[in-house]
Amino acid sequence: MTLQTKESWGSRVGLVLAMAGNAVGLGNFLRFPVQAIQNGGGAFIIPYFVCFLLMGIPLLWIEWASGRFGGKWGHHSTPFILDSMDKRTFWKYIGVFGIFTNLAVAAYYCYLESWTLSYMYHSLAGSFMGESAETVSKFFIDYVSLVHGYEPVFFWLLCLVLNTYILSRGLSGGVEKAAKVGMPLLILFGILLAIKGITLKAGSEGAVYDGVTGLNFLWTPDFSTIWTPKVWLAAAGQIFFTLSVGMGSIQCYASYVRSKDDIALNAMSAGWMNEFVEVVLGSSILIPISIGYLGIDTVIEMTKNGGLGLGFRTLPYLFTQWGPLLSALAGFAWFCLLFFAGITSSLAMGTPCMGFMQDEFGWSRTKSAWSFGAAILVLGLPTVLFFNHGVFDEYDYWAGTVSLVVFALFETILFAWVFGIDKGWHEINQGSDIKIPVFFKYVIKYVTPVFLGAVFIGSLPDLARKITDVSNPYVVGARLLLLGVFLGVSYLVYIAYKKRLKEGRFVS
Ligand code: ALA
Repeated sequence: MTLQTKESWGSRVGLVLAMAGNAVGLGNFLRFPVQAIQNGGGAFIIPYFVCFLLMGIPLLWIEWASGRFGGKWGHHSTPFILDSMDKRTFWKYIGVFGIFTNLAVAAYYCYLESWTLSYMYHSLAGSFMGESAETVSKFFIDYVSLVHGYEPVFFWLLCLVLNTYILSRGLSGGVEKAAKVGMPLLILFGILLAIKGITLKAGSEGAVYDGVTGLNFLWTPDFSTIWTPKVWLAAAGQIFFTLSVGMGSIQCYASYVRSKDDIALNAMSAGWMNEFVEVVLGSSILIPISIGYLGIDTVIEMTKNGGLGLGFRTLPYLFTQWGPLLSALAGFAWFCLLFFAGITSSLAMGTPCMGFMQDEFGWSRTKSAWSFGAAILVLGLPTVLFFNHGVFDEYDYWAGTVSLVVFALFETILFAWVFGIDKGWHEINQGSDIKIPVFFKYVIKYVTPVFLGAVFIGSLPDLARKITDVSNPYVVGARLLLLGVFLGVSYLVYIAYKKRLKEGRFVS
């Protein structure tokens, strides 16, 4: 068996930045504003914060605590982290979600991440300067239709190699360093663009409305639609995606935390940093600028078929209204911040898969990292080649939406009811640098599972509609591929379990 490398975090700051980097992603800057616009602006923000408080924060603590607990026994991926909490076979296979989701989300996420590299280059090269709105918009359509030849494939491969290389350098030597460089730069670029967005003035630089028009739309509470289930489901979905809960990556990062080190405050620091980036920076760039130029109604209309267009098709054109220099700088800053947001999240998606291969099959870090890269290459290829046929969205639906809710529901039940809330509460508080209000003990035991159950039940009609729609062969193919990945990972877990039994390696 190959010698296992003992991984650990280099510093507390590095750990929190890496965890925040895991959470802060493309979702903060592209998904959040669009969800907010689509769900009525001020009507969205109340359910969003309720979901954060009653579901997001408890899940952060549950996942950090489960991860650190499993790490004590040398487990770094959810199948055996969950197994260390309860020995029934069932939980190991629920833990498969924590590997499957990371593989499947990374597969489409890295493609999206690679667009930002290409757009960074095109912003600096002035490719959009002097072009009409239609031309800039069409550039994106042609890009994802592979009309630009192999450029998208080149940037995608570059992005995969970058991710894999950083992962192969390990936690402190790779992931932590990337977060220490990426997060401050992302926040700096975000603040600069937010200032420009908010100070946009009607009548100057071609803007029709002030930048604050968009902010008012988002921040004026609207109680009229508060009981609309659709808005609640969207808010819950956004909380899942943005915090990266229900994925398995937080548990993996936390499994490298020493058993006596704080997790309660660390979880809050990373979680609130994500919220700052999302609700302060994320709402102050895309929304004020696009609404400043196009008005609320047009922007609502434009986001009806998904939100990627606004960030890649509209914003690069609007930047050109600011003149050649500012346009190049703003474009570069926007896509560079998106890139850092993306890569610090995709790196986190690599670690559970690597941890699993290292723990169970004794693979070296380098071999695990490059194997993850190869898996993403194969799984991601359909999203590159058949983007326009709905494959990308299909991955996002099953892995980036449904799986998160299912896994979060099960892990909460395990933590609060099987492992037991008293033990769980003790785990969360052990080594803690803050005193968590005991109110949250009851939230974790009763409110969060009920909340998650309601979100799951609320999603069932959409799920039933999706699963019975077999009209698009590409989408059906993508679904079967994802099912195959899930079964493949389950089989590996089965082999690993047998291997452990044979080698007598069950310490817990
Ligand atoms: N949490 C990551 C994001 O927001 C996945 O993009």
